[in-house]
Amino acid sequence: MELCVALDLPSAEENLALAESLKSYDVWMKVGFRTYIRDGKNFIEALKKINPDFKIFLDLKLYDIPNTMADAAEEIAKLGVHMFNIHASAGSVAMKTVMDRLSGYEDRPLVLAVTALTSFDEEHFKAVYEKSIDEKAEQFAKMSYENGLDGVVCSTFESRAIKNATSDSFLTLCPGIRPFGEDAGDQQRVATLELAAKEGVDYPVVGRPIYKESDPRSKVEEILKVMSGV
Ligand code: C5P
Repeated sequence: MELCVALDLPSAEENLALAESLKSYDVWMKVGFRTYIRDGKNFIEALKKINPDFKIFLDLKLYDIPNTMADAAEEIAKLGVHMFNIHASAGSVAMKTVMDRLSGYEDRPLVLAVTALTSFDEEHFKAVYEKSIDEKAEQFAKMSYENGLDGVVCSTFESRAIKNATSDSFLTLCPGIRPFGEDAGDQQRVATLELAAKEGVDYPVVGRPIYKESDPRSKVEEILKVMSGV
């Protein structure tokens, strides 16, 4: 398991201060919509300056026509980030087009597909996708696996079934982690670190339980300690 910290604070300064406080740890930095829309490429460069070994996950959840997605994927590869994601519901042609386009990059970023957002409950998910979360997440995961993606974004509760349906090495990145049972906020399907480990999660994503702490550094330390023991 590798911890992925969501940099979702309201300003670049606050996010960079959080990154600075975590620079001695082996953690992933997740850069999402808010930060990337506001602070763009410069922010990625600033993160690399803080620690050139930070692994960066650009969480932009691409969803468009295949050619536009592949163009965007190529620009992302040029940024030198280590992982990004697309929406699985963009379909298999989009997946294949993206992976084909990246095949020329020696050190291409890992590509994950979002199955079901962890903020969905069953009722609201079904209203959009007409299937249960389990069923649809597994179907999206198989499609992603068959089209050469590296893994999926899912909740902890689908991680094991997805690995069983694809491969143990097919990566699962799971938001909605409340390491020690902290407040769920808007997340519906939350899990502790212990459960995430049991379900084979490769990348637990933690945002608010870290950055809302008065001492995020010691929270990360606690999390890493638990992760090394499970
Ligand atoms: O604060 P919290 O730990 O809930 O943060 C979760 C992070 O993971 C947020 O940045 C959110 O945008 C992201 N995310 C998610 N569910 C997904 C994909 C990404 O919560 N399916």
